[in-house]
Amino acid sequence: MYPVVEININNILDNISKVNLLCKNNNIKLSLVTKLLSDNVSLVEKIVSTGISCICDSRMENLKSYKDIDIEKWLIRLPMISEIEDVVKYTNASLNTEISTIIALNEESKKQNKIHNIILMYELGDLREGCSKEELDYIIEETKKLSNINIYGIGVNLSCYGEIVPNSKNMDEFSQLVSYLENKHDIKFEIVSGGNSSSYNLLKEEKLPKVINNLRFGESIFLANVPCFEKNIEELYKDNFILKAEIIELKEKPSIPWGERGVCNSFSESGVFIDRGIRKRAIIALGKQDVRLDGLNPFDKDIIILGGSSDHIILDVTDSKNNYKVGDIIEFHLNYAAILNLMTSKYVNRKLI
Ligand SMILES: Cc1ncc(COP(=O)(O)O)c(C=O)c1O
Repeated sequence: MYPVVEININNILDNISKVNLLCKNNNIKLSLVTKLLSDNVSLVEKIVSTGISCICDSRMENLKSYKDIDIEKWLIRLPMISEIEDVVKYTNASLNTEISTIIALNEESKKQNKIHNIILMYELGDLREGCSKEELDYIIEETKKLSNINIYGIGVNLSCYGEIVPNSKNMDEFSQLVSYLENKHDIKFEIVSGGNSSSYNLLKEEKLPKVINNLRFGESIFLANVPCFEKNIEELYKDNFILKAEIIELKEKPSIPWGERGVCNSFSESGVFIDRGIRKRAIIALGKQDVRLDGLNPFDKDIIILGGSSDHIILDVTDSKNNYKVGDIIEFHLNYAAILNLMTSKYVNRKLI
């Protein structure tokens, strides 16, 4: 039963409907990024019933598990050549930057008698996936020779590695690139995918270039947060994922370990111990194997997270107004990284509420 992530499905569905409407009003097709849900088919079924037109995920395992859900699906991490068969079989489109991968997609699409859609990614400064303008010229020319690949769109991704945010300058650069490529190669991109949740503010303020007709949103919808700006979205529900974990030991102990100290702990880290004297400490039954400790924020503001090991998290509960005992449950707010960890740990339960 514990640890468990409780997922407030109604709030999430409400957020999706609101953001989908905002997108529609701005002629944007919303691609909902489902990777936070791991491979939770029933949850994704509920989400699809809100009327969104596309889901996307970074992992083929997840997309494969959604095979019976009738909706357009994109792979948003560049495909591995070793997974091409599944990419063609289980997705409608994938993001791409490498001609060798596109050629492999073409060969597999021929075998499966399918046309695979590709969305080419432009490097706009965040320095993760993306091609230069010259590389795109080359890839487009080469791809036009391939029988089973459709150049479906062009996209950019920001705010994931380099913490670069979308603004009028880089959005202008992107829209100029789109016109340049369409004119030069005599093509029309059906999808012009302008970014992820960090574009939420520009969307709301109607400051996105008109050429952008798609956004890929995860965090903004699930957490009501605009990443990189770390700004709450007032009109959406937050705290839609809550962790509950159980106390397995509760004892008074000194704050400083004693005995001969080695160079590091079992995670190759060297801890810093603050001497607060004898403290009441609770151990809860989950650990760094399941979640990043810096992504946890206790509901009880008087709890201090001291640290942990693979299977244990150690809390200082001395200052709490609650008189905790073994078997009690401690609740946490979660950030994006913590939810991702927890949702993919097989040792953590998930409960829709
Ligand atoms: C290519 C791509 N697009 C969109 C997203 C969604 O990002 P966010 O959760 O910030 O909306 C991600 C990350 O999950 C991504 O890698």
